[in-house]
Amino acid sequence: KALRKAIIAGNWKMNKNRKEAAELINALKPIAADKTCGVIICVPFTNLETALSLTEGTNIEVGAENVHFEKSGAFTGEISADMLTEMGVKYVIVGHSERRQYFGETDETVNKRTTAAIEAGMTVILCVGETLAERELGITEEVVAKQVKVALHGLTADQVKNIVIAYEPVWAIGTGKTATAEQAEEVCAFIRATVASLYDQAIANGMTIQYGGSMNEKNCAELLAKENIDGGLIGGASLVAEKFGVLLAEA
Ligand code: G3P
Repeated sequence: KALRKAIIAGNWKMNKNRKEAAELINALKPIAADKTCGVIICVPFTNLETALSLTEGTNIEVGAENVHFEKSGAFTGEISADMLTEMGVKYVIVGHSERRQYFGETDETVNKRTTAAIEAGMTVILCVGETLAERELGITEEVVAKQVKVALHGLTADQVKNIVIAYEPVWAIGTGKTATAEQAEEVCAFIRATVASLYDQAIANGMTIQYGGSMNEKNCAELLAKENIDGGLIGGASLVAEKFGVLLAEA
């Protein structure tokens, strides 16, 4: 566990206009200042400029919530990796289950987005996780292994060092139904073993693997104490500075 960086990342999803974003970030800055873990806020595209300017010179890093895999062209509504890095955005979430569920994201497009972001010099928070039906069928490991393998396809050992994997069981996202610390540890350990089989044990041991899915100030201590859980990808609890601060303190 000591070999890798603990990172707490907030995924604001589609929340906060620029005024509200500034209020939350200004409340967060003093809270985050003395924390030792990695601190990332992934915000809507419309809040990136505000987040970048307000976090300049602080330990709070800024990420986006999606990225297209083409460099430019006729892709109405899309944002390229170079557009993000030119602004100073260093992180991006790829493959969130809400994008898989609502916006046609597939393991193959996750691989393309991940590759484009890595090639642009970004660090990718790669989301994987099973649905309730898949868990009840007992195929969680098969599903997660395929998501990891396809997402990382073609990435070199050097490139994969810029990947954080977030295990987010779909049935725990936004539901208040958190996976137990044991369930989360089991799958995070499996993800690490899958990375070791694709690359090597050193790469796997150095990779930050987060849990996400109704993780909050009340349940984070037990989750973060687990050997293979190196942080969290936080939705609802990242929208309240004090709650997010508890997670940062625990990591
Ligand atoms: O990406 C994090 C998100 O999916 C988890 O959301 O609200 O359950 O913490 P939430």
